[in-house]
Amino acid sequence: MNSQPSTQSRHLPVMLMESLENLNIKNNGIYVDGTLGLGGHSEEILKQIDSGFLLGIDRDSESIDLANKRLSSYNNYKLFHDSYQNLKNILIELDIKAVDGILLDLGLSSFQLENNQRGFSHKHSSELDMRFDKEIDSNTADKIIKKYDLKNLTRIFREFGEERNAYRIAKMIKESDFEINVLSITSIIDKVTPYRFRIKTYSRIFQALRIETNKELEHLESFLSDFTDLLNPGGRLVVISYHSIEDRIVKHKLKDLKNEKAIKLIFKKPLIPTNEEIQTNKRSRSAKMRVGEKIG
Ligand SMILES: C[S@@+](CC[C@H](N)C(=O)[O-])C[C@H]1O[C@@H](n2cnc3c(N)ncnc32)[C@H](O)[C@@H]1O
Repeated sequence: MNSQPSTQSRHLPVMLMESLENLNIKNNGIYVDGTLGLGGHSEEILKQIDSGFLLGIDRDSESIDLANKRLSSYNNYKLFHDSYQNLKNILIELDIKAVDGILLDLGLSSFQLENNQRGFSHKHSSELDMRFDKEIDSNTADKIIKKYDLKNLTRIFREFGEERNAYRIAKMIKESDFEINVLSITSIIDKVTPYRFRIKTYSRIFQALRIETNKELEHLESFLSDFTDLLNPGGRLVVISYHSIEDRIVKHKLKDLKNEKAIKLIFKKPLIPTNEEIQTNKRSRSAKMRVGEKIG
């Protein structure tokens, strides 16, 4: 990302470091990591809040268990198996009126992507599940493919995958009598995509299915509609997104809130990774970070 790193945490990846700096962490503050993952961000927040408190939230119970192990040497945090869109209810349950910072690092973690059972990656032959929350959500990606008609499936591939061949791929999937799984989807893509574009097309189609399976945009929109009530004056929201639609949603909502004088924007343009960072972490190439601060 393109701003000055602090000396305090030079060893960390730049994007992680910048998101922490932009949370403006106070030692006695209350912070929310709304997308806990394996707790990388949370651990760094906890290092800076001896007398504060951290709430970590994730829809994925396996991630919660692993993060809990990672953070076990701290006693000033609590983890929730839930969606960040329910932060308001979580705060009511804890009798907390408002917090000093909220971090969202959207999308999926490498841990989820590399799991060979969950269907997030085109690299592992498995069922096409793709749910973040296997306990609560019943709609897997393969059920969505079976349930949706051609028009709807095309829309998802086009809107969430930005895939040019959306219609052809959706049509072949709907007409196929194969069992739907990772392998059958990649072999259909192979039939309509020149060899050199295949990997990118797999990624776009899998991304689109994941976003729809988890209703990711709905969760984001619902959270953005009331997060300012959950922040103390001066408290910050830091959002890192990896998809142009997500970034657009965040951008427009923060702009509206700025016009209503509910928040100020810390940067006019989003922060993006430097070329150096992209070279060491390819997945960071589409990252955009936006920061808003509640006006009190
Ligand atoms: C990019 S990873 C976060 C990585 C994390 N910052 C770390 O340092 O390990 C995104 C995480 O957000 C979770 N997630 C996605 N949507 C969510 C939602 N609506 N509520 C809570 N967690 C969500 C995913 O399950 C995944 O674990």
